[in-house]
Amino acid sequence: MLNSSITLQEVNAKGWVRTFRNNQFIALNDGSTINNIQCVVDFENTPEETLKRITTGAAISVTGTLAESKGAGQQYEIQVAKLQILGDSDPEKFPMQPKKHSLEFLRENAHLRVRTNSFGAIMRIRSVLSFAVHSYFQQKGFVYVNTPIITGADAEGAGEMFQVTSLPLDNLPKTEEGNIDYKKDFFGKHTNLTVSGQLEGETFAMALGQIYTFGPTFRAENSNTSRHLAEFWMIEPEVAFNDLDANMDLAEDFIQYVIKYALDNCADDLKFLEARLLEEEKSKPQAERSEMTLLEKLNFVLENNFKRVSYTEAIDILRDSTPNKKKKFSYIINEWGADLQSEHERYLVEKHFKCPVILFDYPANIKAFYMRLNEDGKTVRAMDILFPGIGEIVGGSQREERYDVLIEKMKDLGIDEKELYWYLDTRRFGSAVHSGFGLGFERLVLFVTGMSNIRDVIPFPRTPMNAEF
Ligand code: 4AD
Ligand code: MG
Repeated sequence: MLNSSITLQEVNAKGWVRTFRNNQFIALNDGSTINNIQCVVDFENTPEETLKRITTGAAISVTGTLAESKGAGQQYEIQVAKLQILGDSDPEKFPMQPKKHSLEFLRENAHLRVRTNSFGAIMRIRSVLSFAVHSYFQQKGFVYVNTPIITGADAEGAGEMFQVTSLPLDNLPKTEEGNIDYKKDFFGKHTNLTVSGQLEGETFAMALGQIYTFGPTFRAENSNTSRHLAEFWMIEPEVAFNDLDANMDLAEDFIQYVIKYALDNCADDLKFLEARLLEEEKSKPQAERSEMTLLEKLNFVLENNFKRVSYTEAIDILRDSTPNKKKKFSYIINEWGADLQSEHERYLVEKHFKCPVILFDYPANIKAFYMRLNEDGKTVRAMDILFPGIGEIVGGSQREERYDVLIEKMKDLGIDEKELYWYLDTRRFGSAVHSGFGLGFERLVLFVTGMSNIRDVIPFPRTPMNAEF
C-alpha cells in the first residue's frame, strides 16, 4: 500500500472510500492495488457527524490495528482507532457511484473514471507495460532516443498531420503569390506534429547501432474507430545491420517479453479484468463469446510462434475463402496489389490461422517510400503484425539502404529531396542494411487488458471532436 505505514501494532492508511456498509465497514482504496482495504469502524464511539461524512469518493485517513478478518474477501482488516476525513465527497453529486457505469458514461468523466476499479487496473497495467518496454530494450543494450515532437518531415507520407504554427490564424502573413508565408512562422518553415519518430530514429541507429523511441505520435486521420486515436504512443526500435527476418524475430520476442512481464507483475489486476470480461460475455449470444479467457489468450501468445505469411500467400487464402464471391467480406479482394482492410486482417488471424500473424513482402505501391525494394521489383520488405481482436499492432520494414533506389522512389512520389537531405545523408555516408518497426502502445494495452475500445486504455483520449480535459 502506497500511503500506508506499518508499526508493530499500529497501521495507517490513506485513500478514497469505495463503499461504507452498515455504518461499520469501509472499503478503502489507496490506488496502489485492485484490493480494497477493509476498515472496521467503531461506530458506537464515532460521532454521528463523522459517520455521515464517510461517503463514496471521500478521502480519509485511518489509524488502527491490523487484525485477521473474519469476513469473506480479505485476509486482514484495520480495526480503526482514529479516523480523519481529509476531503469530503458529496454523495448526491459525485458521479462515480458504487455501481456499474457504462463505458460511454465513464469516457465522459475521464478525469474521474480512474477512481473506478476497472480503470485503476487498466492504468496500473499500462504503467507496468511502459516499464517493461524500457526494461526489454535497456537489457539488450538499446539506446533510448527522444525524437522530436515538432518536425518538418512527413515520415509516413500519408499527409495525416496536425499543423503547428505560431502565426495568428485571423491574420496570416501572405507571400506575393498569395500563399501563407511560412518563412514568417516561428521556425521559418512549415511544421507539424510528428506521425512517427522513425526517420530521425534511423539517423541514430546508423551511429549507435540499436536504438528505440517511446513517445507520443499524432495522426489527423478522421477514422472514428475503436482502434484509432489522434494522439497515441508508439515504440519504435531501429537496428543497424538487421534484415527483415531479424526484425520479425525482434518484434516477436519483444511482444512476448512485455506480455509475460504483465502476467508476472499484474496478476491481481489481470484477474480482476478477466472476471469483468467473463461477466460481460454472459450477455452475448453463445456464438459470439470468446473461446478463451483473458489469461488464456495472453498465455496463448507466449506459447505459440507468430505465423509468418507473405502478402501473396495471404491474398490467395482470402480469395479461396470467398468462393463465388460469397458475402463474407464487405470488400472483396479480387486482385494482387489491393490493400487489406481490417476485416481481412481479422479473418486471417481469428478464423484462418487462429494465432498472431506476421504478414510480409507487401506490394510496393501500398507502402511507405523508405521500404527496401525486393529483387522482384514489385514488393517491399515490409511486415505488419496482426493480433486477434486487434488487427494491426505493429508496422515495420527493412529500410531501403541504397541511395540511388531511394532517390528514384522519392522522385516518383514527389517527395522533396532537399527537405529530407539529412535522412539521405544516412545513405550517403556509411549506409548499411537496417530495419525497425513501430508498435502502437495503446493497441498493446488493449490486447493485454482485454478492453475493446482504444479510448479506454489511454488516460485522456484524443479522437475527432473530442479533446476535453
Ligand atoms: O504502421 P504505422 O503507420 O508505421 C509507422 O509509423 C512506421 N514509421 C513504424 C516504424 O517502422 N518505425 O504505425 C505503427 C503502429 C501501427 O501498427 C499501430 O499499432 C499504431 O502504430 N497506430 C495507431 N495506434 C492508434 N491510433 C492510430 N491512429 C494509429 N496509427 C498507427
Ligand atoms: Mg501500418
